[in-house]
Amino acid sequence: VIAQVEVELFEDQINHTINKNIYGHFAEHLGRCIYDGFYVGEDNTTIPHKNGVRLDVIEALRDLEIPVLRWPGGCFADTYHWKDGVGPKNKRPTIVNQWWGGVVEDNSFGTHDFLNMCEVLGAEPYLAANVGSGTVKELADWVQYVNHDGISPMAKWRKENGRDKPWNVKYWGVGNEMWGCGGNMTPEYYANLYKQYATFMVDWSNSAGLYRIASGASDNDYHWTEIMMRDIPKHLIEAIALHSYAVIDWNDKGSATAFNESQYFTTMERALNMETLVTKHSAIMDKYDPEKEIALFVDEWGGWYNVEEGTNPGFLYQQNTMRDAMIAGTTLNIFNNHADRVKMANLAQTINVLQAVLLTKEEKLVLTPTYHVMNMYKVHQDAKLIPVSLNNNTSYEMGGKSLPAVSVSASLNDKGEVHISLVNIHVTKSVKVDLLLTDLKAKSITGQILSSDHLQDHNTFDNPSKISQVSFSSFKKRKEKLEVSIPQASVIVLKIK
Ligand code: AHR
Repeated sequence: VIAQVEVELFEDQINHTINKNIYGHFAEHLGRCIYDGFYVGEDNTTIPHKNGVRLDVIEALRDLEIPVLRWPGGCFADTYHWKDGVGPKNKRPTIVNQWWGGVVEDNSFGTHDFLNMCEVLGAEPYLAANVGSGTVKELADWVQYVNHDGISPMAKWRKENGRDKPWNVKYWGVGNEMWGCGGNMTPEYYANLYKQYATFMVDWSNSAGLYRIASGASDNDYHWTEIMMRDIPKHLIEAIALHSYAVIDWNDKGSATAFNESQYFTTMERALNMETLVTKHSAIMDKYDPEKEIALFVDEWGGWYNVEEGTNPGFLYQQNTMRDAMIAGTTLNIFNNHADRVKMANLAQTINVLQAVLLTKEEKLVLTPTYHVMNMYKVHQDAKLIPVSLNNNTSYEMGGKSLPAVSVSASLNDKGEVHISLVNIHVTKSVKVDLLLTDLKAKSITGQILSSDHLQDHNTFDNPSKISQVSFSSFKKRKEKLEVSIPQASVIVLKIK
């Protein structure tokens, strides 16, 4: 069945840049994300690595042009004492990872390892600091340790540990999920604590300036955002976070691969709810900050299912299917379209945890469907947002509920190329979209598509290339119109130049 949708692009109304950090990632000391994902140890002789970091991972993430990486948590951040993770590795203390599987954390991957790895990846680091079980001094010292270029106790210690120049870390999270695993605080209590911590975070003439990020709301906790905006003065805050996962039911999240259409529908309902969340949290921020000086960072998002059978429930290891590609494509379109306020987003989590872009098993590496969506969408990074309007959108209906089938965003880069990303979440209907552009004459148009026969399809260690982006040409130019036929459950990116 073919349904028809019209998308108008307003190339004359360009006002905002899509911050490349919307394409950011998140890596926690959780399960096999850091250990066995990024880091296999400096003495590893079976897996090729540089300073213990897998070379295949470095290559895959560099290809993805990941702009920013958040670390070390998550909930882990509020148990992490960074001083345990610097200096000679054989002298570092061990702790128990209380949130994630109760495993021993030997602190072998610490601040130097992470920040040096970010340099290799070409990604900005985003350090999430410990407020829940840390101290103001501990955080102030961390900032001095990584950013101070002169004579100071922490700069001296950094140099003794082998790093002369500071890393100039710009992004700093002041605690994580302070309403929950960060300390079960009320927003009023946390706002006071936040001010105290933020006051002692010195910008050691870091040319870029510090970004202090307040731990934000979960989903539709608008009261949390309201109190942060009301109680924290502007000179102490640069961004506020928001976490939202596409989860069917926290008590039984369902299988990552063996799901039915009704479960798929619910997942997409939750994922598309990001539009409402971002709109409403932004409206609260607009009230206190109409100049939009404080950014909204959606620093945890993605699909969350039951763990794969036979894996540690505390490790959150799940497969990644075309359903995840649908989540990624629609969510990134939402963030692009809210580029005025959303300046960073961090998919949870990069490797082997939740909606991962990479899965590893010994020497093998799999690029997931989500990886391919991120790869197709990277053209939007730092491009100018072209506002769009979607008319007569097809509905995807189930059990009396209805979701918009098509999602879109568009951008113009500094080479004058227009990129349009389109998603059709409908399981059975392909959709014909008429793209209305002002100047289409004599333009060359190319496309890429990600699709598969079944939503449950995924890449495995034995068949790693079942799903990958291929070129797409089901479109026709007619005067000012580009007619595009989007197959069911697919993601497309068009380039017009
Ligand atoms: O990403 C997994 C966990 O989800 C994070 O540690 C926490 O912040 C969130 O609840």
